[in-house]
Amino acid sequence: MNTSLTPDQRAGLVLKELTLDEKILLIHGQGSPFGGPVSPNILLSNGGDGFSLGVPRLGIPALQMIGSAYGVRFSATNGRYSTALPSNLASTANWNPEAACEYGALIGREERAQGYNMSLAGGVDLAREYRNGRNFEYHGEDPILAGTIVGHRVRCEQDQHILGELKHYAVNDQESGRGIVNSVLGKRALRETDLLAFEIGNEIGHPWAYMCAYNGINGDYSCENQYALNDVLKKEWGFQGFVLSDWGGTHSTAKASAAGLDMEQPDEGFYGAAMKKAVQDGKVPMAELDDHVRRILRAEFGSGIIDYPIHKFVVNVEEGLVISRHLAEQSIVLLKNELGALPLDAAKVTSIAVIGEHADESMISGGGSAQVDPEGSFAPAWENPAHVWFPTSPFKSIAAKAPHAQVKFQFGANLPAATALAKSSQVAIVFVHQWTSEAMDVPNLSLPGDQDKLIEAVAAANPNTIVVLETGAAVTMPWVNKVSGIVEAWYAGSKGADAVANILFGDVNPSAKLPITFPVSEADLPHPQMTVPTPEVVKAEKDGKPGPLFDVNYDEGLKVGYKWFDAEKKPVLFPFGFGLSYTSYSYSGLKVATGAQAGGTAATVTLSVKNTGSRAGTEIAEVYATLPASAGEPPNRLVGWSRVSLKSGETKEVKVTIEPKYLSIFDETANGWKQVPGIYSIRVGASSRDLPLVTTFALQ
Ligand code: BGC
Repeated sequence: MNTSLTPDQRAGLVLKELTLDEKILLIHGQGSPFGGPVSPNILLSNGGDGFSLGVPRLGIPALQMIGSAYGVRFSATNGRYSTALPSNLASTANWNPEAACEYGALIGREERAQGYNMSLAGGVDLAREYRNGRNFEYHGEDPILAGTIVGHRVRCEQDQHILGELKHYAVNDQESGRGIVNSVLGKRALRETDLLAFEIGNEIGHPWAYMCAYNGINGDYSCENQYALNDVLKKEWGFQGFVLSDWGGTHSTAKASAAGLDMEQPDEGFYGAAMKKAVQDGKVPMAELDDHVRRILRAEFGSGIIDYPIHKFVVNVEEGLVISRHLAEQSIVLLKNELGALPLDAAKVTSIAVIGEHADESMISGGGSAQVDPEGSFAPAWENPAHVWFPTSPFKSIAAKAPHAQVKFQFGANLPAATALAKSSQVAIVFVHQWTSEAMDVPNLSLPGDQDKLIEAVAAANPNTIVVLETGAAVTMPWVNKVSGIVEAWYAGSKGADAVANILFGDVNPSAKLPITFPVSEADLPHPQMTVPTPEVVKAEKDGKPGPLFDVNYDEGLKVGYKWFDAEKKPVLFPFGFGLSYTSYSYSGLKVATGAQAGGTAATVTLSVKNTGSRAGTEIAEVYATLPASAGEPPNRLVGWSRVSLKSGETKEVKVTIEPKYLSIFDETANGWKQVPGIYSIRVGASSRDLPLVTTFALQ
């Protein structure tokens, strides 16, 4: 307990005292409340997703793990209340490291309040596949944006004395066949895309744990992947914490151990008695076991969970709701606003039709192990998936904003009634949703059911139709030209409806920008059809054939998201980085200066942004780089941005520093980042497809 020693020294002192049995206890779980074998020790669990015993005689606590992607999944014996924040993808749409910190800190506080000391969150697999059912839990398609946001989230979550993690390492980019799929991706693309997001998250957030994924990468399962775990994460990135398997994602003892898997979860099929025997038989060296244990102990000291033992307290509900609303307001993207349809003027509007399933009562949330209990009720077990609607009522929030207007509601299922209401109202606001969840992908990017038809019908009845989307990620919009306003609210959390109303009525000026491209249609994707397990593969899995059993070839390689659409010169519905405001901005005065740093040349970009409209607002100024042609890169990559708040008429100069790695490529032969000599273009503007300023610099 001498806190003047480093976590590593303290871990070393404990390690010396441990018996073999105690070491083994530390490297596996005790079972899961969601099925599979459980040990009697599970009674000591706080009821979270995972639980590992400590060593009480030495003061080493149990690990109480809880899923907490966008809020604490549930609070077991402590009253089952947690604040649901906007989804992780939504939280990326504000491009705001400070907001990411607030997000992580709130979750960290609630984890502690509810008796947990370890978080299962920090999903940063890239949205390489738009149909991935977990994209709402991830941070979009750009590695630099995703890594930055997740890094600040986990940094501030850990500041609350929580052991935080990043997951699912790596390339868990689809859910279909996730336990048997092999993600195939060349080394350079792997390092510059999916792994770069983790690398940046690691540098910024210093998470003490990494969860390896269900899938394989280039032939070996993630949790027994020498390249991903030992070579890159532990050796190259210098990761000091431990790697735990995704639930049931361990496939072996000696192979996984040698590759760098430190802990099996949720039980002990490979890392319990089998590991003890492997150590005794000399198949797993004692030094290797010691390294797993030392990493776990180091993470416990480093994160502060030993110095700050679990001590439950009451969640600050009111504070949580204010933060949740505020974060949602910063995350809602205004996609279309024709002829000043928005903001609505509460003093002038006389009648509003609110249309859409559940829009009288609630808003949808994302499912699976990320699912937060809605206020006043329990989420169903995710193995029996059900749509969970949060009690945040768009109808009531809108009605409260417009006390002089007649605000009426129609469910939407009855098309004639919905269109009649739209026709007789000044404005029609249609709430549509797309439910997504872990363990499944969406079949296509259309809004489910008859919602496209509903929008068409309402828009035909009333040209002043505004669509509010509650979606996991991107959807297609065949009706885009027929409506006057479109607002992307994502999964907006506990206070989503108030946040949406504040945007619709202009109490908040929208500032968020898309962290993911919205394509025109699936035909434009790198893979118009997803690769899913064939019946033969499903049978082989049932027969117990060792996997991975089928390949998904990510042959688009470096061209993830906007990089694909740009390289292939494809039109998009809404580009990456796009988002409107109720004011307007102009860009000028772009300059770039370069300077040598460790790792190569860094660039400092200076530019001015002016608020040319009549309202105060916050603009996200985006900086992209085009590398020399010899680098063989897609046309543009995001390398930095700045959020700048401006009063009407105000101009500010902003500086964006671009670190050398962001101007580099990964050189497979040299196994490292390198800068390519030649001319670099720096482009600045409001979205990946609106870059009015350009300048160049040369690198020798
Ligand atoms: C998910 C993980 C999660 C774990 C524990 C798995 O199904 O893939 O993200 O942390 O369950 O709930």
